[in-house]
Amino acid sequence: YNVPKAVNEPVKTYAPNSPEKKSLLDTYKKMYNEKADIPFYIGGKEIRTGNTVSIHPPHDHQHTVGQYHKAEKTHVEQAIANALEARDAWSKTPWEHRAAIFLKAAELLAGPYRDRMNAATMICQSKNVMQAEIDAACEMIDFFKFNVEFMTEIYANQPISSPGIWNRMEYRPLEGFTYAITPFNFTSIAANLCAAPVMMGNVCVWKPSDHQIYSAQVIVELFKEAGLPDGVINVVYGDPVMISDTILSHREFSGIHFTGSTHVFKMLWKQIGENIGNYKTYPRIVGETGGKDFIWSHPSANAKQVATAITRGAFEYQGQKCSAASRAYIPESLWADVKKYVVADLKSIKVGSPDDTSNFVNAVIHEASFDKISSFIDQAKQDKDAEIVAGGNHDKSKGYFIEPTVILAKDAKYTTMCTELFGPVITIYVYDDKDWKNSLKLVDETSEYALTGAIFSADRYVIDYATNALENAAGNFYINDKPTGAVVGQQPFGGARASGTNDKAGSIWNLLRWVSNRTIKETF
Ligand code: SER
Repeated sequence: YNVPKAVNEPVKTYAPNSPEKKSLLDTYKKMYNEKADIPFYIGGKEIRTGNTVSIHPPHDHQHTVGQYHKAEKTHVEQAIANALEARDAWSKTPWEHRAAIFLKAAELLAGPYRDRMNAATMICQSKNVMQAEIDAACEMIDFFKFNVEFMTEIYANQPISSPGIWNRMEYRPLEGFTYAITPFNFTSIAANLCAAPVMMGNVCVWKPSDHQIYSAQVIVELFKEAGLPDGVINVVYGDPVMISDTILSHREFSGIHFTGSTHVFKMLWKQIGENIGNYKTYPRIVGETGGKDFIWSHPSANAKQVATAITRGAFEYQGQKCSAASRAYIPESLWADVKKYVVADLKSIKVGSPDDTSNFVNAVIHEASFDKISSFIDQAKQDKDAEIVAGGNHDKSKGYFIEPTVILAKDAKYTTMCTELFGPVITIYVYDDKDWKNSLKLVDETSEYALTGAIFSADRYVIDYATNALENAAGNFYINDKPTGAVVGQQPFGGARASGTNDKAGSIWNLLRWVSNRTIKETF
């Protein structure tokens, strides 16, 4: 197979007064006022139950952009039945044809679907233009294209043979159906959690986050137009407990592909354990969960570089990336400069709606999240061992807006140094320069999660030392760069400890979780 190497989708800049910016904002406006009536999908059929929930943009929660329909238990059962019905034909579809559907989806998304996917992500997940573009357009396109390249490596690579014998490996899909539970924070992750198992020949029932349903609808339209057969992906909205109970108690449940909170993932794992006697096969459990991602700086680091990593790593997309920096360890000798640069950066940052593209920070996803994050900020205002260095304001009258906030903690184990807030807040601990080795030990000891982390130093010995000291503290480890923005095909993404099963989204290792191989030996 001489397949061209996948290349990353170029990021469009949406420059002021450009036609591409006008086209995107026109689409945004249209979708904002469309009053979408979003069904769920079973066997390719649109289902509207009349049991509806309104959809409100996080940055303008009094405005309604549409509604979605909720499924009942019988619909979830039907979704499973339809998936299983579609399985036979789909699992026997040659992999090249399955791959071609996703290559076509990538082309459609790079072209006619780009504006709608980005606009839906901006409206309902409150992403600014650039954050939508790198996620809903580029990362999703990259997932599809690179996964096809990885598929080629898997299916076309049959190295085992010897004289008189032909050994081969058959990459069979799992027996049964897979279950995708997907988050609000990355439209591309939602698409990939369904697409990866499906590309390997599996069928799927998909439960998206309630806060990502507008872009989920666009993903469904995209897959349909690309030629994905009905029933291969069945989408249900509604009560997550009922949906998971119905799916996880089914005999043919064969795997879960999850991104979300650590707490929910552990509950699901337990539930799978409780049902284990009932399944036909041991289910695959693949999950990416929480994080408390760090930035650590040595005295030899460049203060400006560290400050930029803090501003971008902690506050892009309101700190709601699983990779977002939320704690930093800065040496005393560097702190005054780092602080000066971060405070200056934050002065120039605007908070507001994504349709005004000069706003760098938009709203956090919903009221519960706003209330949680704000209460930690307000507590820090009162605590003696904490000080607000920048930001600290919040206002939910129109949208769930929280100013990018920097907390200085006197205690390295202060609550916001250890608790995942999933918002635009970073807590900084300043350490004594000569204690840098101990401070690394501290980072590791307090890393209950291990998703991403970044270290900064100009000294090769220190880089080597820190890389070893933090060996298990991050699945994605950055040297002299911010801990966010992993690119598909370049930095496969995932973490361990309480952050997940580390099956690296957008990689051959992830795709291999969705097959159950048959080894075939034939003699002549
Ligand atoms: N790729 C994203 C990042 O690294 C997370 O999925 O920020």
